[in-house]
Amino acid sequence: MPTFQSVRGMRDLLPEEAETLNHVIAKARETAELYGYREVITPVVEPYELLSAKSGEEIRQRMFTFKDLGDRTVALRPEFTASIARLATTALKNEPKPLRTFSVGSVYRYDEPQRGRYREFWQSDFEVIGSNRPEADAEIILLTNSLMKATGLRNYTFKIGHIGVIRGILSQENVDDKTQNAILQRMDKKEYDEAFNILNPRISRTLQGLVELKSSSAFETVKKIKAHVKGYDDAEVAADNLFEILKLVTESGCEIETVDPGFGRGLEYYTGTIFEVYTPELDIALGGGGRYDRLIEVFGGEPTPATGVAHGLDRIALAMGMQKTALPTRREKRVLVIPVNEELRGEALKISQRLREAGIPVEFEIMGRKMAKALEDADRRQMNYAVIVGERELKEGSVVVRDLAKREQTVVAIEKLSEKIRG
Ligand code: HAM
Repeated sequence: MPTFQSVRGMRDLLPEEAETLNHVIAKARETAELYGYREVITPVVEPYELLSAKSGEEIRQRMFTFKDLGDRTVALRPEFTASIARLATTALKNEPKPLRTFSVGSVYRYDEPQRGRYREFWQSDFEVIGSNRPEADAEIILLTNSLMKATGLRNYTFKIGHIGVIRGILSQENVDDKTQNAILQRMDKKEYDEAFNILNPRISRTLQGLVELKSSSAFETVKKIKAHVKGYDDAEVAADNLFEILKLVTESGCEIETVDPGFGRGLEYYTGTIFEVYTPELDIALGGGGRYDRLIEVFGGEPTPATGVAHGLDRIALAMGMQKTALPTRREKRVLVIPVNEELRGEALKISQRLREAGIPVEFEIMGRKMAKALEDADRRQMNYAVIVGERELKEGSVVVRDLAKREQTVVAIEKLSEKIRG
């Protein structure tokens, strides 16, 4: 048999990588608690119809889609938002609003593998359902700011925009939804020429002018956007909405560095403010989200406003590595328990259990090594203590504790063992 490799784009996270990812997951969960988002766990496999309904062509083409044995067309989730919208129209339909949910787990997209871009990756997802107010949009940005801060990342920046500005112009110009989606998809990739050349020259010029707007401050850019779209009623309302959200976020102490008038996102369901967060080390977003006020009705629910964000946890972990962000150091002492002979294995295991019940991490010598070799191994693995279970000490209810760093040994009563190890 040949040796097996993981499938292209799928990664093994080895202990240190798994530890970092779990640390980021823990921070995301803490953030959810701090902001009142309750965790829901949804399936990795969902109906293809659900996942593809409003995700957009880009994601649709990248889904892992297959038929299950019951001949259902299903797919691995490429994100959480569709699953949460499904819940909002079913099991959580009658929950009081706002409904705030948190989810974390692996998602799947057939992206071209490269640094920070994988086919299986992790997201933490926050959704607020039932509020159309700018406070809800602000909250999603603020919690993202809190998560970034909690992971210890530095110099991250926010980029914000508003889908309603572009859709407002296009709708008033009677451009149909399908064409709008195609244009926004191209804009997401910054392919502005390809995006606009399907429009008549006048609209094309308006949009080209819009994406080229620049200013020294975020607020000034929004003012310029508003002036640029004068006469397009919905686009003007969208610009006002963007201004208000920007104001709320800024007043609460979170800086938004960039307003991007040509900002599109790959997903099709957005209707309002959209944003992404970046660090200077990577040119790909660490998280992104926005308002999607029509998805829930597409899924057969009452028209319900909603906004949310997903954070790319692998990318956050990657950026932490690049910034050399230190993980909190482990506080517990690590112990290796070694019986001096075969007869004492049972007693030694019992002592191990006792320590574990006291919350002390214990490894047991399971290779049948002689004492010197076992101690050498404990040293190599940087254990703090070896607990040596020998006949003579055991008769007096004691064991030998060897401090591996200091190379000192003492006899300690089993009663006092966990106390001694904790120090
Ligand atoms: P998204 O922008 O498609 O949004 O993905 C969110 C984040 O997932 C990205 O910013 C990025 O950090 C990470 N990500 C995306 N693709 C990959 C990949 N191939 N490898 C590694 N990380 C990746 C959503 O998923 C929306 N559901 C967000 C949302 C929630 N909007 C409203 N509610």
